[in-house]
Amino acid sequence: MKHLHSTLAVILLLALIIAIVITLVNYLGNKPYNRKIALIGLISAHLQLVIGLVLYFTSPLGFQSLDAGNMSNSVARLYFLEHPLINILAIVLITVGYSKAKKLADAKKANQTVLIFYVLGLILILSRIPWSTWSLFN
Ligand code: HEM
Ligand code: HEM
Repeated sequence: MKHLHSTLAVILLLALIIAIVITLVNYLGNKPYNRKIALIGLISAHLQLVIGLVLYFTSPLGFQSLDAGNMSNSVARLYFLEHPLINILAIVLITVGYSKAKKLADAKKANQTVLIFYVLGLILILSRIPWSTWSLFN
C-alpha cells in the first residue's frame, strides 16, 4: 500500500501538471476544453484518496499517531494531520473544478475553471508532501 501510494503520488503529480499545461495552452489559444486530460487528473486524485485512506487506518504514522501529545512533533503532525487533511481538501477542489467545468458550455470558461481549481489543488498537495521523509528520495 505504501509503495502504491508513493508511485501514485508521482503519477498524480505528473497528471496534474500535464492537465494544467494542456488546459493553459487551450485557454490561451481559445481552443476547445479537453475533458479527457482533466479526467485523468481527477481519476488519479480519487485513486490516491482511496489508497491514502486505507494507509491512514493501517499505517502507524496515521490514525494510531493521532494524539495531542504528538502535536509538537512536526514530522508526526504532518502524517497524522496536515497531509491527510490538506490533501483531502485539494482533492475536493480538483473534483469541484472538474464537475463545474463539465457543466459549462463555454470552452474558455471551462478551461479557466479547471486551471484555477487544479492549480490550487496542486499547490496544496505540493505544500504537504513529506518531502524530507519520502521513501523515493531516501
Ligand atoms: C473515497 C472515494 C471517492 C470519493 C469520495 C469520490 C467522489 C467523487 C465525486 C464527488 C465525484 C464528482 C461527481 C460529479 O459531480 O460529477 C466523482 C467523480 C468521479 N470519480 Fe470519484 N470518488 C472516489 C473514488 C474514486 C475512485 C477509486 C475512482 C476510480 C479510479 C473514481 C473515479 C471517478 C470518476 C471517473 C469521476 C468522474 C466521472 C465524470 O463525471 O466524468 N473515484 N467522485
Ligand atoms: C493528494 C494526494 C496525495 C499525495 C500526492 C500523497 C503523497 C504521499 C507520499 C509521497 C507519501 C510518502 C510515501 C513514502 O514515504 O513512501 C505519503 C504517505 C502517506 N500518506 Fe499520502 N498522499 C496523498 C493523499 C493522502 C491522503 C488523502 C491520505 C489519508 C487520508 C494520505 C495518507 C498517507 C499516510 C498515512 C502516509 C504514511 C504512510 C507510511 O509511511 O506508513 N495521503 N503520501
